[in-house]
Amino acid sequence: MSAMQAAGARARSNIALVKYWGKTAGTLNVPAVGSISITLDALWSDTEVAFDPALASDELVLDGKPRPDGLGRVSACLDILRDMAGIGTRATVVSRNNFPTGAGLASSASGFAALVGAGARALGLDLSPKELSIVARQGSGSAARSIFGGFVEMRAGTNADGRDSHAEPLLPGREWPLDIVVAVTATGEKPVGSGSGMRRSARSSPYYGSWLETHPPDMELCRKAIHARDFEALAEVAEASCLKMHAAAMAARPALIYFNGVTVEGIGLIRELRRSGLPVFFTVDAGPQIKAVCAPDARAAVRDALAGLPGVVETIETGLGPGLETRECAS
Ligand code: DP6
Repeated sequence: MSAMQAAGARARSNIALVKYWGKTAGTLNVPAVGSISITLDALWSDTEVAFDPALASDELVLDGKPRPDGLGRVSACLDILRDMAGIGTRATVVSRNNFPTGAGLASSASGFAALVGAGARALGLDLSPKELSIVARQGSGSAARSIFGGFVEMRAGTNADGRDSHAEPLLPGREWPLDIVVAVTATGEKPVGSGSGMRRSARSSPYYGSWLETHPPDMELCRKAIHARDFEALAEVAEASCLKMHAAAMAARPALIYFNGVTVEGIGLIRELRRSGLPVFFTVDAGPQIKAVCAPDARAAVRDALAGLPGVVETIETGLGPGLETRECAS
């Protein structure tokens, strides 16, 4: 390659309704369990990748700042694409999130999906969404899901080479519009990232085995609830999967407690709102933010209730969003 080759991509963040927590052995980042997620419209990463023969090494600029600390995972992901294209050219990656990075709002999901989308397009690789999902998974498990919009299922797969470990669409968002209110309860990077949290849970939590064993029925309940548009059933399985994941994490040694006090208050508040007839449920990932999923006509009431909770710093509202979008970009 003699000239610079560049492209851009936007990928949205997603949140899991049935959680991914745990990896299989090996270096391919194959999840130990499947997962089901919704892609969010208003939280995204915009990424440009430019392969430049003049570069001696890859470069990463995230939210305007050089981030050499993030290069290991980014370069490893670009290496997969470089191998496919049969080149060794290094790249500059410039990425921007429109939401706080690393605070449990799944910036790695949108970030790695956008990286893979932009990188593949820049190299002229004609990859299917499934192939993009397989590459994105190796950057971050949840990124495999951000290739698709609406309701998405990640299949853990059984092949040792990870070729069947990818996401696929379950239902377009317009078929069952739901809204999400994120209540930010703390800003700043989380203390233990999901990858190391998963490994610690697998190594030391007495409940990790039960987590794995009881996971498949939750996947089935969730698929059924989505296909039947059954909000109550979805609420029940999503809250149960979230709390099981956290229970397994909390019982690890040292303990992984991602909740803060406001998270717990928020969970109580959302359960009360649902008991009083509002269609809303909660989910929480590897950070203290509360994600409330609700019917669109309940959104204002959910937002007002969460915004009024002492300790909530900010609320972010969104509907369901589309999958990966890529574009040409001036090089
Ligand atoms: C709690 O996708 O961040 O958000 O594969 O190590 O990058 P890596 O993990 P990551 O884990 C997400 C964990 C979760 C649950 C979920 O999104 O399913």
